[in-house]
Amino acid sequence: MNKARKIKKLINLNRKLVCLTAYSKSIGKILDKYCDIILVGDSVATAFYGMKNTKKIKLDTMINHCVSVRKSVRKSFLVFDMPFNTYRNFAEANRNVRKVIKQTKCDAIKLESNGRNFNILNKLVKSGINVMGHIGYTPQYKTTFSPQGFKLSQENKLLNEALNIEKAGAFAIVLECINAKLAKKITNSIKIPTIGIGSSNYCDGQILVVDDLIGLSGFYPKFVKKYINLEKLINNAIKNFRTDVIKKKFPKISNTY
Ligand code: KIV
Repeated sequence: MNKARKIKKLINLNRKLVCLTAYSKSIGKILDKYCDIILVGDSVATAFYGMKNTKKIKLDTMINHCVSVRKSVRKSFLVFDMPFNTYRNFAEANRNVRKVIKQTKCDAIKLESNGRNFNILNKLVKSGINVMGHIGYTPQYKTTFSPQGFKLSQENKLLNEALNIEKAGAFAIVLECINAKLAKKITNSIKIPTIGIGSSNYCDGQILVVDDLIGLSGFYPKFVKKYINLEKLINNAIKNFRTDVIKKKFPKISNTY
């Protein structure tokens, strides 16, 4: 199926869109069975590299992760999250986006909105790139975490941002930590799907950082549901390995050449 048809299919699906982040081939392989969209998010900075925020992750580092994910993702729509300071003007965005697409073969890219970069988004779309928007709590442009859209001024600003992103030609928008009432209003005001993270069930789909969902990140704000505590399971496995090594129970003859 070509990319344009794939997007159309996503938009016309009569159910919520299922989206998650992935940073590696092994996780991508599992997610590809269940997700409509897989995002190689710049959250790799905090979730994988333990950085303080997402601002310092390098484009080339993210390209390496996306190349790894692409190896196992066949069915889902693969989106690359453009990192901070790689799309400050159209020339920079165009150069970097083309490099990303050439090297990763991703299906689309995501740009965080700074409230002004609609024109860059629009020019990328016009040049044939599939672009996803991102509004609300946008970590590249904010210093401290706070849910968005509680004041009237913020509400109008976010609604306008969503309308501008739709007008610029994005195929979907991530709404991050936007209050439920406003998420509903935005979702009802635009035709492209809204993908929520901490933005209520009114959105057309949901996305989470996979490391949070599997209990590996140590980051569990209110909007995360931990479906499994992988840290605990891995902890037990490593503890058992340690015991086996010390007690000479591993390796056995069957593990030996
Ligand atoms: O980087 C990321 O993982 C994201 C999601 C939180 C949407 O942008």
